[in-house]
Amino acid sequence: MQARQLLAVLAAGEAISGAQLADQAGVTRAAIWKQVEALRSRGVPVEARGAAGYRLPWPVQLLDVSRIRAALPRACASRLGALEVHWELDSTSSELQRRLGEAADLSVVLAETQTAGRGRRGRSWLSPPGLNLYLSCLKRFDRGFATLSGLSLAVGVMVLRAIESFGIEGAGLKWPNDVLAADGKLAGVLVELSGEYQGPCAAIIGVGLNLRLTDPLRDQAGQPASDLATLAGGDPPDRNKMAARLIAALADGLREFERHGFASFAEDYARHDLLAGRSLKLSGAQGHFEGVGAGVDARGALRVRVAGGEVRSIDSADVTVRRA
Ligand code: BTN
Repeated sequence: MQARQLLAVLAAGEAISGAQLADQAGVTRAAIWKQVEALRSRGVPVEARGAAGYRLPWPVQLLDVSRIRAALPRACASRLGALEVHWELDSTSSELQRRLGEAADLSVVLAETQTAGRGRRGRSWLSPPGLNLYLSCLKRFDRGFATLSGLSLAVGVMVLRAIESFGIEGAGLKWPNDVLAADGKLAGVLVELSGEYQGPCAAIIGVGLNLRLTDPLRDQAGQPASDLATLAGGDPPDRNKMAARLIAALADGLREFERHGFASFAEDYARHDLLAGRSLKLSGAQGHFEGVGAGVDARGALRVRVAGGEVRSIDSADVTVRRA
């Protein structure tokens, strides 16, 4: 029995004994124990309930390509290139990079777990199986990087639209595209571009969205982290339905971006801008300085009002909010 099969058996959230599991799989109890440990070491909170056996604290919906497809609006499903669910990849974005030459426009790759999930600025992205979503989407553009300013901010808006489509409110955006709840990061967006400055180019858009985190995973995240379960005040949305909403929000949003650019997202961004009016500390190409967030400009650069009233536009920097 592999870890993925064990997770599938435990997915219903009911307890099952080691002996039953061993019988079902035709393996020893020691082999079951090994896979329980394998799941735990990846961050899945498998509980041991004495004689009742092993169980998960809540039911889990494993990702299923046919369920995701069934939950997509038909018009959206027909526009997608590939739609794939993998049990394990190094990184869904690396998988699309490797297939950049042949993959169709709007190809989407998801994985239950990533062994080398990548975040921005060389950070890693925790990717336990069964709990969250790790998704990458390939979008091709005809008119070069020059037309893509603000894309990564627009993708943050698309992720928020997908979350809000479940009636879950309270998330906001920290420039450039972190999706945050009050207690930490809910989703991260990594946009990687390749191709020509004024010709055909491609964006690989990676989204990691936390549906359920455990306390040990929050500790490992290396920064305050939140999940949809906390924001929703109970259970998070069904994982396959959430994946479908995210894919639909990306497919629709990327078409909107292709036609109208960031301008079409500026209002939504401003409504969710967590840095506007806040005292900020920045460090980047312009050195270390402080100022007050003043929204974003038409290219998606962060506007910061510094002492004396001058407003600087920042394309890249580490930003922290100063405590009041
Ligand atoms: C960030 O640092 O905020 C960006 C995190 C992006 C994580 C996602 S998970 C799916 C895709 N695959 C990766 O390796 N990274 C992105």
